Parts: sequence; C-alpha cells; structure tokens
Amino acid sequence: MGQSGYLTFGLSFASLFALPTHSRVVTPQHVTVLLDETLSELAIKPGGRYIDGTVGGGGHSEAILASAPDVELLGLDADSAALERAALRLLPFGSRVKLVNANFAQLSAVARANGFDQVDGIVLDLGLSSDQLGDPDRGFGFIAGGPLDMRFDQTRGQSAADMINLLDQDELADLIYRYGEEPASRKIARSIVAARPIHTADQLAAVIEKAVGRRGRIHPATLTFQALRIAVNDELGSLMSALPQATELLHRGGRLAVISFHSLEDRIVKEYFRSASQEHVPQPDDPPGLVYRSAALRLITRKPIVASEVEVVSNPRARSAKLRIAEKL
Ligand SMILES: C[S@@+](CC[C@H](N)C(=O)[O-])C[C@H]1O[C@@H](n2cnc3c(N)ncnc32)[C@H](O)[C@@H]1O
Repeated sequence: MGQSGYLTFGLSFASLFALPTHSRVVTPQHVTVLLDETLSELAIKPGGRYIDGTVGGGGHSEAILASAPDVELLGLDADSAALERAALRLLPFGSRVKLVNANFAQLSAVARANGFDQVDGIVLDLGLSSDQLGDPDRGFGFIAGGPLDMRFDQTRGQSAADMINLLDQDELADLIYRYGEEPASRKIARSIVAARPIHTADQLAAVIEKAVGRRGRIHPATLTFQALRIAVNDELGSLMSALPQATELLHRGGRLAVISFHSLEDRIVKEYFRSASQEHVPQPDDPPGLVYRSAALRLITRKPIVASEVEVVSNPRARSAKLRIAEKL
C-alpha cells in the first residue's frame, strides 16, 4: 500500500515481478466495448496525457497509448487482480503508463499524487469486465462453488454474502428493486431470507430460480446479481462523485468519455452532463446560497453512441453499452 492508501506501480519488468504471485496473471479475455468510437471521440493528441479510470483488461488504455506518439496514461482500477492482468498487456509502453489500484471516487487525489493534474482526456468504462464475471472466486456470475463476494476491491467493505445474510427482508427487497429494477424483488427477498445463510453465487442463483421460475432466456437471478454488485461497490455513488472530479481535471478542450451498461448509470451521466453544460444565471426565486455558475462542459453527444450490429454480434456484452462524451469549456 502506498502512503495514501493505494498501491501504485509504474511499468517495468522489475515492478511486474514485484506483484503478488497468488494472482491469476493471465492475458485478459475481456473484449473492449465501443473502442473505435471512444478513441475517435477522445481525439488523442501526440504527447497528450490521459486517465483511464477503469483499466480492466487494459483495452482502452492500450489503444490510447498506441494511437499517438508520447502519450502518457494514468490507469486506475479498484480491482488489483485486474491491474495485474493489464500490467502485462501494457508493459510495452514502459514508463508512459502508471497504474494505481484505487477507486475512481478518489480520482482527483490519485491524479494529483501522480502528477496528472490537468489532462487531455478521461475514460470511464463502467461496471465489470468479462474476466471478473468469469472468475469463479469472485462471485459475480452464477458459477458453481465460488464465494459470493462481488467486491471490486476485495480488501475492504462488505461482500455480497454478508449483505444478503445480514439485511432484513424489507431492506433487501428495497435494494433489489432500487438497483436491479427487479419487479419480483419482494418475493426474491423473502426466498433469500428463508434460505439463509447463503455463501455461494450458485446457491443464490438457485434460490432465486426456485422462487420466481424461468422467464425466457435470461437467468431469473440476473437483476438481483446486478443490484447486489451495484450496492456492494457503491457503484452509483462512486460515479456521481467521479464525474465532477473528472471535469475539474480536464484541460480546456479535454474530453470525458463515459460508457455505461444500464439505465441507472446512464441516467447519472446524462443528468450530470446536462447540468454541467448549462450556465446558471441567478433567478429571483432561487433558494438562498445558489450562485452564478458558468457551464463547465459542452456536450459532444446529445444522444449516446451505441454499438453497431457488427460489434453486438461479435460481443453481445456491447448490446447495452452507451457512450456519452463531453468537452471541457
Ligand atoms: C468494463 S471493465 C473495463 C474494461 C476496459 N475498458 C478494457 O477495455 O479492458 C470495468 C473495470 O472497472 C473497474 N471498476 C469498476 N468500478 C470502479 C471504480 N469505482 N473505481 C475503479 N475501478 C472500477 C472494474 O474493476 C473493472 O475492472
């Protein structure tokens, strides 16, 4: 751990061998979503400085670094195993990359501590990667055996198992409804409480399937798993906190690209972009304390960019992706 609570490593062979070896340092399998669209909208400049707040498999980071000479990149991920995988992929870029194991809710502090105070572009590709989803030890998918964890950062906070075993039935139902928009939330919460304690992802998936039955091709536990993951990682809170920090870190003309995967995230991005792109001229009926504020952003995308049919066919995960871009004024 670094002084300020996050682990930092620049990329060199030495730093790679200094990484913990427990880990599954394997080539990332995650297929990057909306890669060409993100790159062309970020308009990468030679010698530019960029932040990837969600390094994951390193796909966006690698493309940003490769798309113009002398680009420097600061990459964050809350998941240290993801960073270890990405570090191998980004090794050819040597000291042009700095990776930090941190939550993007601390974007400003991490950027400043690493000399990335003013940058040309920032990308946030939200949610989880296919590498995390497919790892039975993480509990993100319905895979048999593994613990029901779901934390991006396994060193802190409550796991999904703790959450479902400790919350009362109404709190659990509210959580599943709020973050999963699951219409059967009350029935599911009741069945979870009756089946407790639950420790593994496949156990939870089976309890939900038994309670609500199969409804078509989508597994009936999908929305509940989404809700738990969002709650465990405070995903919406982190996003709301990161967006103004990202805006602050951009140079004039710098761009912020955010890819979201469900309506709760997209609504936050859309609302933030809309409000930050409006100037506030004081009105006589304003509540006390509201002051004049000039617009901070210009919208580049009024409607989100979505994946082409060709991309969706080759990577079904891209189906729900929405990319929004704004430029610092
Ligand atoms: C969709 S993946 C990113 C994939 C990446 N763009 C690529 O092309 O390989 C999202 C990553 O963001 C990380 N993540 C999610 N929320 C985070 C947060 N609040 N702070 C830092 N990392 C976060 C996850 O651990 C995951 O590795």
